[in-house]
Amino acid sequence: MKTIKIFDTTLRDGEQSPGCSMNQVEKIEMAKQLERLGVDIMEAGFAASSPGDFNSVKAIAETMKTCTVASLARALEGDIERAAESVRNAVSPRIHTFIATSPIHMQYKLQMEPDAVIESAVNAVKYAKKFVSDVEFSAEDATRSEVDFLAKIFDRVIKAGATTINIPDTVGYTTPDEYYEFLTAIREKCPAMDNVTMSVHCHNDLGLAIANSIAAVRAGATQLECTVNGIGERAGNAALEEIAMALHTRRDRYQVQTNINTKEIMRSSRLLTRITGVKVQPNKAIVGENAFAHEAGIHQDGVLKNKATYEIMTPESIGITEKSLVLGKHSGKAALKARIEELGYEINEKELKVAFKKFKELADRKKNVYDRDIEAILAKEAVQVPDTYKLVRFVSNSGNTITATTIVCLNKEGKEIEEFGTGDGPIDAAFIAMEKIVDRQFHVEDYKLRSVTEGKDALGDATVALSEMVNGKRVEVTGRGISTDVIEASLIAYINAVNKMIYEEQQNM
Ligand code: KIV
Ligand code: ZN
Repeated sequence: MKTIKIFDTTLRDGEQSPGCSMNQVEKIEMAKQLERLGVDIMEAGFAASSPGDFNSVKAIAETMKTCTVASLARALEGDIERAAESVRNAVSPRIHTFIATSPIHMQYKLQMEPDAVIESAVNAVKYAKKFVSDVEFSAEDATRSEVDFLAKIFDRVIKAGATTINIPDTVGYTTPDEYYEFLTAIREKCPAMDNVTMSVHCHNDLGLAIANSIAAVRAGATQLECTVNGIGERAGNAALEEIAMALHTRRDRYQVQTNINTKEIMRSSRLLTRITGVKVQPNKAIVGENAFAHEAGIHQDGVLKNKATYEIMTPESIGITEKSLVLGKHSGKAALKARIEELGYEINEKELKVAFKKFKELADRKKNVYDRDIEAILAKEAVQVPDTYKLVRFVSNSGNTITATTIVCLNKEGKEIEEFGTGDGPIDAAFIAMEKIVDRQFHVEDYKLRSVTEGKDALGDATVALSEMVNGKRVEVTGRGISTDVIEASLIAYINAVNKMIYEEQQNM
């Protein structure tokens, strides 16, 4: 069977979408999971876009053991130099350079003549080749470009040394049969395409990103670009898990395979949700909460008689291993370690010690500790940044006949600071107290609270998105907190966001 390469751009195209920004520690954690998931190429960022992005790409390139690490670069020497420098220490480095090729983009955005666009593309590829052998070229807005023009530019960049040609549907405009014909026409007019990897990158504006990606496989594409949970610009990118499971489940028809370890899909999806705080819709294909739930009586009856009546793939195949009751307050460190390993995580003694302390605290407050609780503890530990501020204590007083008041005490580098806030409910009051302590112009962009599992003693999982203008640029971070007490979870999430903002500033200095 032919193998289709999976090019993951969660950390670049995904990360640049609203609410999905990640700091370096989080990106490295996600990158490690993507490597476990088995992606062939990981686009770790856009090195020239900021010092923080450069540092993240470099750190990921230095951490990955097998996966190719790519940095995006416009067709400009400066961008290519930054990209080259960021991936220099990767086991397998790639530079991904791009320029727009559609008449509307060339005329209005680039304000360049078509011949000048070709020249820039060729020069960019030649320049990138001085640093790495693996160079990808993308024709931005390809699906609204002219086939003859694309055939010409691809022929020239292939001669200049491009090894992968990406034909993106940047604005999610095309449809499956149209894309198939378009790609077939390009291959006919540019025979050199047969000597390189043909890639596609589909956005989901019309909800067709997966259908278009699959149509592209039929037209000869051997690399598909995608993101975990489908995060990305506007309506997002093609979702990695949907591509992987569509090709796996329908390998009878498409006769292709990928290197994705499908059992890592659910864990990858949940890790991304925890890091960004962006949840997937319950009915989302593959990773949505209801993707394997059978509600209608007639369906339940069928599934009980034979699962295959209504199930085209099993929950186990994407790594859903939920056990109803896992551990309780009498469970020891060895039992926790065994369960963590069964869940597929690697944990060293130091991490286990921290996780066990959290587990004990949780088991004291909550009767049953489920797999999702354990994963929540692990994710929280995995993506921490330095604790500039730490929660010492809080007291909250609220009711429907009084104004809510919350007193918060934080420790900042050894010094305790206490403030109170009054507001519309105890959480509003807590955030007002926090604002006084931190004394910065942060704006709360978003606040979410959900329970990790069912039951009245369930863990509350809070996310707080804060933004701030730094040198005219808007910086947004998401903090997360878990606790059986929802006010505490919210405060921890707020503090986590503040600590991330401080860390982010230090990274970009
Ligand atoms: O959507 C797009 O065209 C892109 C390119 C930079 C590949 O993200
Ligand atoms: Zn894109």
